[in-house]
Amino acid sequence: MFTSNHFAELSASIPTIYMQGYIVVMILLVMGGTILDMIHKKSAQYFFENAKKAQKSAKRTVDGGEKVAIATSVLVKEVLTSGEFSNPRRRLSHLLTMWGTIIFIVTTAIMIFCYPTSATPTPTLLPQLWHIGALMLAVGGYWFWFAIRVDVAAEGLSWFRLERADLFILSLLATSTFALIWSFTGGGLTVYFALFILSSTVLFGGVYWSKFAHMFFKPAAAYQKKIIMADGSRENLPPDYDLTDPEVQRKFPDVPMYMGKNPPNMGLCIKAERANHY
Ligand code: HEM
Repeated sequence: MFTSNHFAELSASIPTIYMQGYIVVMILLVMGGTILDMIHKKSAQYFFENAKKAQKSAKRTVDGGEKVAIATSVLVKEVLTSGEFSNPRRRLSHLLTMWGTIIFIVTTAIMIFCYPTSATPTPTLLPQLWHIGALMLAVGGYWFWFAIRVDVAAEGLSWFRLERADLFILSLLATSTFALIWSFTGGGLTVYFALFILSSTVLFGGVYWSKFAHMFFKPAAAYQKKIIMADGSRENLPPDYDLTDPEVQRKFPDVPMYMGKNPPNMGLCIKAERANHY
């Protein structure tokens, strides 16, 4: 079961060209949904206008080499290893969901395009990776849904309360769950296959309404966040002052007046206690 390419077996009932066509249509839907999302929210326009505004209050120029170093650090930290999550549970759940999705989608495409029928035997590694990807996605996704989501973990709301914003995670979960059930029940043209295709169509066709496109926007936002720190513009926010510095105390005399000459560093308030008040 873990070693068979169910798509190749399916080619006896569904012509390969239909399966390949389906993947092409899904790619076009993701591209179309992302572009419509950008037009509707004006996010690209806001992004570039904001970047230009930040450039005006830059204290120094960030050269090409530094930009490449920043882009590389975004790729390695924020994109490949979900480094934006400081909570280790959220980070691990996101890593499982993200890498599970990527492995699952890439192996599906390779099997359908490169090993479409039983006449070209599929290397067993591919279906194995397909199952591992779907399982990683399911584990990371269900963990997120039942224990990590802010509405549930911090605000004490029910698991079953649904919003449009949940379309992304729910369609991801449905796709991986029905794909696994379809495989465990032997593949073929069954109701589980129909549910698998229905949920993946919602996942890729629902980009405009879901959080799908964050995977393209977040890297750009992370890059810009690092640029404004490097060029000193900091979105016009004040620097991180050291309150024990006499220079800072001269600038803000009420600091030593109320907190003494050696004020303690109280850290980030957001990290003071877990948001769990309900
Ligand atoms: C296949 C790729 C990816 C998948 C399947 C994925 C999946 C998810 C899911 C399910 C969530 C929770 C969404 C929710 O609140 O309902 C999430 C949130 C998040 N993702 Fe991803 N993600 C992917 C790629 C990325 C990339 C490339 C980045 C960053 C560079 C990223 C950064 C984030 C961040 C920062 C959040 C928290 C969002 C927030 O709370 O506003 N993700 N992702």
